[in-house]
Amino acid sequence: MANKIQRARTPHAPQHARFGGGRQPPHRTQNDLPAETRTNVAALCNARLADTMDLMHQAKQAHWNVKGRNFIALHELFDTIAAASIEWMDLIGERVVQLGGLAEGTIQATAGRTELEEYPLHAAHEREHVAAVSAALAAYGKRVRQAIDQADELGDKDTADIFTEVSRGVDKNLWFVEAHQQADD
Ligand SMILES: [Fe+2]
Repeated sequence: MANKIQRARTPHAPQHARFGGGRQPPHRTQNDLPAETRTNVAALCNARLADTMDLMHQAKQAHWNVKGRNFIALHELFDTIAAASIEWMDLIGERVVQLGGLAEGTIQATAGRTELEEYPLHAAHEREHVAAVSAALAAYGKRVRQAIDQADELGDKDTADIFTEVSRGVDKNLWFVEAHQQADD
C-alpha cells in the first residue's frame, strides 16, 4: 500500500497526502469506501486537478494568441479544449468532495503542483501553439491514464471510470490538434 500512496503524491503534495496517522478525509460521509481509500484517491484527484487547471489555462493562452493561415480553426479548437478542461476539472474536483475531501483548486494551490511543462508565454505562430498544446495534452493524457490504474488499485472503480472518461476526451482532442502537423511529417 505504501507504494500506491507514494505514487499518488506530487512534488507539492496535496493536503490529503499529508494527513498521516488516522488517514481520515476531513468531512464525514456515508460513502462506504474505506476512509484510507477515500483519502488516497482524494489526493490523487487533487494532483490531477492541478494538471487539469493548468491545461485549461494553456488552451486559453493558445486560443487568444494563435496566428497563422489556420487561425479560425485553431482559435476555435483551442477554445473547445479549454471548455473540455473545465468539464474535466469539475468531474475531478467534485469527486474529491464526494469522497469527503477538500478540493484544492485555487490558482496558488495548483500553480506549484502541476506536473505539466510551463506553456511558452510568447508563442505566436500556429506551429508553436500546435506543438505546445499537443505536448501538453499528451503529458496530461499520460497522467490521466496512469490515474485510471492508480484509482483502480486503490479500490475506487468509480474514480477510475471518471479518469477513463477524461482520458477518452483527451485522446480525441490530441488527435484534433496533431492532425494539424501530421500532414507535414
Ligand atoms: Fe474566446
